[in-house]
Amino acid sequence: MSLFETSEDPVQELHQNVARPFERATAMPKSVYTSELFLDKEIRNIFAREWFCVGRTDGLPNPGDYLALELAGQPIMVVRDHKGKLRAQANVCRHRMSVLLEGRGNRRTIVCPYHGWTYGLDGRLRGAPAMTHNKGFDRSLYRLPQIRCEEWLGWILVSLNSEIERATQRFSAIETMVEDYDMVSYKQAFFETWEWNTNWKVLAENFMESYHLPVCHAATIGGLSKVDDVTCPAGHERFNYHTLQKEESFTLSIAHSNNRRMQGERRLTTYLLSIYPSLMITLTPGYFWYLSLYPLATGRVRIYYGGGFSRDFAEDSDSEHHVAELRQLLDEVNAEDRKCTERVYSGLSSDFATPGHLSHLERPNFEFARYLSRRIDQPE
Ligand code: FES
Ligand SMILES: [Fe+2]
Repeated sequence: MSLFETSEDPVQELHQNVARPFERATAMPKSVYTSELFLDKEIRNIFAREWFCVGRTDGLPNPGDYLALELAGQPIMVVRDHKGKLRAQANVCRHRMSVLLEGRGNRRTIVCPYHGWTYGLDGRLRGAPAMTHNKGFDRSLYRLPQIRCEEWLGWILVSLNSEIERATQRFSAIETMVEDYDMVSYKQAFFETWEWNTNWKVLAENFMESYHLPVCHAATIGGLSKVDDVTCPAGHERFNYHTLQKEESFTLSIAHSNNRRMQGERRLTTYLLSIYPSLMITLTPGYFWYLSLYPLATGRVRIYYGGGFSRDFAEDSDSEHHVAELRQLLDEVNAEDRKCTERVYSGLSSDFATPGHLSHLERPNFEFARYLSRRIDQPE
């Protein structure tokens, strides 16, 4: 229970927060992290309207591979059909409306676990036991509702917004900016889902700034990135980013000797891309890793986490060793981030919490706050 109740509206507080110039910016008001009302608006006006990433296309390589998830309260599935096409469709049976699939796996057909109605991977009803006596039933009229799903630079994007513009248009500035990385050719080596006890935005913001690297990550990557050289440009409507230069000794993060595409400083440059609302990608010329975040509650986030390598590293004879090395490093880094971001949520939930000023190294956080302020009451 709060000792000092406030009656502020979190949306109004956020609008006020972003009205000042970046040179005077402070962290977002704590109510945007703790308010149920704000979470409800995020789900309805942002997560139900934007593109949401469910991983890499090579994470579902074979016909029948599927991933079930909940997006904005809707059970959906992403499945690779028999023709090799990735589809998103409702994960709800057309009979008496049971959820069909759970988790991840591979199926030749989708069989409802209740009465056995059976769907093809394209969502068309193939069979339904004991339905011949119902004169109104016509199997050919039954299909799972289809949902927008696109492949973009190797990412699987889904959206409940049937009108949303194509990802290649929406994110064309990113395509141009990192064209020389050839992100579509990066190979995923691992993928997991996690749940942490923090607000999704705390974790998103943690990703957006490298200000915390020397301290939070002192035991791991703190010394491997030149934080003084971090470039934090003004944001874009659809994303923010910053770049940093990696030390040449961190060989997995710089361009492979077979990489002829990238030149000069670019061979050492890491992009930290935050694609709104919740896809966070660390893109180095060597490895990549990502988080796609979904709010389960104000203080609970589901994380789709994966990573791997650019083609040169993936095809290298030492690739297994590289994967093991990268996983170990990222496991340690993520454990540090988990502690830091769960501590932030505990702290900001307290009555003593008040947001402080932002460093110039936290420009992307301010850009993110502006994005939220634009969209929280105005769905596209
Ligand atoms: S609810 Fe699916 S077969 Fe009955
Ligand atoms: Fe971190």
